Amino acid sequence: GGAVNVTRLAAMKRDGEPIACLTAYDYGFAAACERAGVDLLLVGDSLGMVVQGHETTLPVTVEEVIYHTRCVARACRRSLVVADMPFMSHPDAESGLASAGRLVKEGGAQMVKLEGGAEQAALVSRLSANGIPVCAHLGLRPQQVHKLGGYRVQGRAEAEAEAMAADARALEEAGADLLILECVPAALARRLAGALAIPVIGIGAGSGCDGQILVLHDVLGVTPQPPRFARAFGREAAGVEPALAAYVEAVKARSFPGEQHGFQA
Ligand code: KIV
Ligand code: NA
Repeated sequence: GGAVNVTRLAAMKRDGEPIACLTAYDYGFAAACERAGVDLLLVGDSLGMVVQGHETTLPVTVEEVIYHTRCVARACRRSLVVADMPFMSHPDAESGLASAGRLVKEGGAQMVKLEGGAEQAALVSRLSANGIPVCAHLGLRPQQVHKLGGYRVQGRAEAEAEAMAADARALEEAGADLLILECVPAALARRLAGALAIPVIGIGAGSGCDGQILVLHDVLGVTPQPPRFARAFGREAAGVEPALAAYVEAVKARSFPGEQHGFQA
């Protein structure tokens, strides 16, 4: 069909068509993803780790996300281009609106993504009011790594799961168009995807989501020790294009993620 937009994403959820997403950081790989039929490309702040070689995503700047978004956007006709809001780019709603505006105007992003729960609702509604689509991000939030004391599964405890459900509702009510759930028990992710009207995209969140996303380098097999929730399609396929096509096919057929890629409560 035509270009992927918020209307199309909502229709895909309604029709039960899984949404296949990947991260991308440059023109060449974004073009390959586009040819493979990836629906959404996220210029993630994971670029700080997989492109720049930092230990965390924290050093990434708005300027850097703009640069990579411009590179990716040049390749995209059909895939929706989403830009990540870096650490400390939205300490309050006004600065967040300004940062997001730059990602759209200078970077060419069609949607922005931000980590956080109900405390981000004011910013999400400001963005919505200004015509900027929003992807929220709950569960493991890598920008919180120092507060979390490491990268681990979120929402295993009952109280944590209920807080996540309340955050998800608040973000949807504030106008979020999409929600990413990272490293949450499969049963909780399935429940949230069922409860929310907006599409829920999982990463380490089991097969009950409306779509899946992985980091491009993990899919291609470039990451030496990929996280357990990833599948290195690049190690199974003869080249980049077949690997990307196999990823899209597996997401659409719901054969990825398997049981072994998810977490239990
Ligand atoms: O930065 C990133 O790549 C992300 C995805 C893993 C969801 O936030
Ligand atoms: Na990110």
